[in-house]
Amino acid sequence: MLPYHAKEQPPRMTDQPVSIIVLGASGDLARKKIFPALFALYCQKHLPDRFHIVGFARTEMDQEEFRNKIIENLTCRYSPGESCGQRMEEFLARCEYFSGEYDSQDSFLSLGQRLSEIENHRETNRLFYMAIPPFVFLGVSRALKSAGLISPPGSNPWSRAVIEKPFGSDRDSSDKLVNEMAEVFAEDQTYRIDHYLGKEVVQNLMVLRFANLVFDPIWNRSYIDNIQITWMEDIGTEGRAGYFDQYGIIRDVMQNHLLQMMALVAMEPPISLNAQDVRDEKVKVLRAAPPLELKDLVVAQYTASNGHEGYLEEKGVPEGSIAPTFAAAVIQVKNRRWDGVPFLIRAGKGLDRKFAEIRIQFRPVPGNTFCDPGTVLDPNELVIRVQPDESVSYRIMNKVPGLEMDLKETDLNLSYQAAFEKEIPEAYESLILDVLEDDQSLFIRADELAAAWDIFTPALQQLERENVKPETYPFKSPGPEAANRLAQEYGVKWK
Ligand SMILES: NC(=O)c1ccc[n+]([C@@H]2O[C@H](COP(=O)([O-])OP(=O)(O)OC[C@H]3O[C@@H](n4cnc5c(N)ncnc54)[C@H](OP(=O)(O)O)[C@@H]3O)[C@@H](O)[C@H]2O)c1
Repeated sequence: MLPYHAKEQPPRMTDQPVSIIVLGASGDLARKKIFPALFALYCQKHLPDRFHIVGFARTEMDQEEFRNKIIENLTCRYSPGESCGQRMEEFLARCEYFSGEYDSQDSFLSLGQRLSEIENHRETNRLFYMAIPPFVFLGVSRALKSAGLISPPGSNPWSRAVIEKPFGSDRDSSDKLVNEMAEVFAEDQTYRIDHYLGKEVVQNLMVLRFANLVFDPIWNRSYIDNIQITWMEDIGTEGRAGYFDQYGIIRDVMQNHLLQMMALVAMEPPISLNAQDVRDEKVKVLRAAPPLELKDLVVAQYTASNGHEGYLEEKGVPEGSIAPTFAAAVIQVKNRRWDGVPFLIRAGKGLDRKFAEIRIQFRPVPGNTFCDPGTVLDPNELVIRVQPDESVSYRIMNKVPGLEMDLKETDLNLSYQAAFEKEIPEAYESLILDVLEDDQSLFIRADELAAAWDIFTPALQQLERENVKPETYPFKSPGPEAANRLAQEYGVKWK
């Protein structure tokens, strides 16, 4: 059977020309994620016939050098075989590089002239992708505006800006950034990207919950015991300790990726798939979560082990840094559906496993006929594996085949690789397409960002004010014992 298309899918954009300006084009994100995603969209015919891409950064590079850097990361996933080389050539012919200063009106006046030439002096939509450190956003935006490159909100052709996290480092700095950026890009021109929301399995969360009947009646405090959301990496800061240390794992991963996944798990059904309706529901969940208290938070740093240096010994980490490389927290959502259900979230680097998943643990079966009095069988679990090996599995109790009445937990397992022939798109492909099609539902709205910071800001400030020393855990270990103790206080065991 053919797949259903959800109603309210935005119209495919075909003939409106667009220029995509990638600011910070010399950087890692641009080379490894953005250009490959744009190439994938090109191969799938999701870019309009008349599109151009201009990479902008300070580094001096000629066009050949730039294109050679880009081609290194392009893949033939959507255009296999002999045609791939030709597709790459066609794509690269639409890409060029422009070197300038980020806060210079002159640089952007020159870029504007070049854009007009490339665009044949026709009215063209413009997408500005800010793949630059956040402290550069404002200077760039003001310079773009003063050079006349940005059209006002609601106009045709449009101008839109994609900005990358971190969006501030607490509620105040985030508000400041939001307000200052709003002088240049209105909220409906601003796409605050959290690439976890573009991941296929995360996008499936709403479908799983709201396009199936079976989950709805049990998706609440009467049936769900706890929800665990985990993000783990088995590598350290990989030479980026200087950058990482300014933020730590709570700001880098928890306040955004994990909280966004939590909001999708906990939200009420939106009345439509429209961006406002979806984001309204997510904001309600975040606002129903009181600020995290230190008693519900464990922070830790990895120490030298398994031939790897400890975090504090890494180049770029200030002496005595208290930036956590691991954190575990229990968040409560004080609304009618969730009151009393702990949301346990944890994120860490330098651990013994690499995965991200959402685990919904149901309550044990009461009065179970199969158990001796006092024995409780392990409860059902729904596990949504975000990465690697995307899957959705439902852990149920089953009779073991045989003459005895033995019971065993088994998985009803939907492995994406086995179930779907289609290539799983990279998160950036899906999200950049949404920007082109003006669908903001998977981007963080300003009030959503504020609500997310409200959950973490008081705890972050207290940690820093009181100079709370993180717990420790050896590199490549399961993490600090304190995280297990925190879970135990809520009667939960991390899986
Ligand atoms: N890498 C990822 O996977 C990832 C994931 C999520 C979010 N992000 C965010 O995305 C943005 C870009 O990431 P990235 O990894 O590409 O960063 P990056 O390599 O450190 O920086 C991107 C470019 O910005 C310019 N730049 C760097 N430091 C600068 C400074 N102090 N002042 C002015 N320009 C500077 C550099 O270009 P020129 O020197 O040539 O101008 C550099 O090539 C960052 O905000 C990051 O937080 C990245």
